[in-house]
Amino acid sequence: MEEYKQFYWGKTVLVTGGAGAIGSNLTRKLAELGAHVIVVDDLSSGQIWNIPSVSNVLFVKGSILDEVILKRVFFERPQIVFHLAAFFANQNSVDHPERDLMVNGMGTLRMLEYSVLTGVERFAYASSGCAIYGGDMPLPLKEDFVTMHLSTPYQITKMLGELYCNFFYHHYGLKVVKPRFFNSYGPGEVPGQYRNVIPNFIYWAMKGLPLPITGTGEETRDFTYVGDLVDGLLRAGYFESAIGQSFNLASGREVKIIELANMVNKLTGNNAGVRFVSRRKWDTKKRLLASIELAKKLIGYEPKMQFEEGLKITIQWFRDNWEKIEASAEFGPGASSAVREMVAIKD
Ligand SMILES: NC(=O)c1ccc[n+]([C@@H]2O[C@H](COP(=O)([O-])OP(=O)(O)OC[C@H]3O[C@@H](n4cnc5c(N)ncnc54)[C@H](O)[C@@H]3O)[C@@H](O)[C@H]2O)c1
Repeated sequence: MEEYKQFYWGKTVLVTGGAGAIGSNLTRKLAELGAHVIVVDDLSSGQIWNIPSVSNVLFVKGSILDEVILKRVFFERPQIVFHLAAFFANQNSVDHPERDLMVNGMGTLRMLEYSVLTGVERFAYASSGCAIYGGDMPLPLKEDFVTMHLSTPYQITKMLGELYCNFFYHHYGLKVVKPRFFNSYGPGEVPGQYRNVIPNFIYWAMKGLPLPITGTGEETRDFTYVGDLVDGLLRAGYFESAIGQSFNLASGREVKIIELANMVNKLTGNNAGVRFVSRRKWDTKKRLLASIELAKKLIGYEPKMQFEEGLKITIQWFRDNWEKIEASAEFGPGASSAVREMVAIKD
């Protein structure tokens, strides 16, 4: 086994947001590698059935804003913290900006404080390349690109988290790492009004509905398989060269939204096609493509999953878990301006 994987055997690792799309996959992998994993999650967007039910995973239900919960989980003396809990994502933050600031801002600050106080050896912050680079940027995106033109509270608070990490690194010597994820997809992400396009497309396709494209369909995203992100996180928690650094974790490949929609329809056997709906006001990004050269250099990151293969695995996960997914998918009427049309279709 590679050294960075062996490293986790017997380690006590705290994963915030471990019931979520990426955190649940990370938790499963860490448990397989023999770590003692503590998951803290308030289940606001994660699912309890997503957390692996094995003896080396301890689940503590609660918020990272709750000091009683923080004392409980830091009492376990984690050596490594993967801080993935977040108020997710753009549209949610537009609808609920104060909760976004509390969880992504204050929650991250508290996690950093408790990590310093208890002598955590490595703190990995889940940053977002989709958020912190804003909407108008040179491609492929490199880590030294900085913008003040952030268009949602989520974009602002994901950047804020990085800035707090920098403060704790420089002032207290906390060994922080700041991987910037791009458009994760894969098993573990339940569709919903505030979720990403891939789980939502699969969900609508499996219901035989046309897939709503918010734009022209020519827009691109750098979709990254969750297993590749988890591998990047494991590396980020291990390699010394990552300390203090921000680096993209992406696939380094662009996919057009129309191609994605056609592929999902083909793989699910959906004949309903696509339909075009208006673009969301904050959604100004036409293309997204990340450079992954820095992550390759710092931590040997090498994404492996082919896009269509990753989609097939995700669709299979939907088929295997359809009842649970249907019961958990949240598309509440009226809550989000962006999905009102979809709710109307569903009804
Ligand atoms: N999914 C993506 O495409 C993507 C892209 C870039 C960055 N990220 C970042 O990666 C991380 C994980 O994303 P995800 O897609 O797994 O999101 P997710 O919503 O599936 O997971 C986040 C988890 O945090 C939990 N949570 C929220 N508020 C909490 C609180 N106050 N206390 C405790 N737990 C709380 C939720 O219940 C959920 O299980 C987030 O920090 C997100 O900003 C994700």
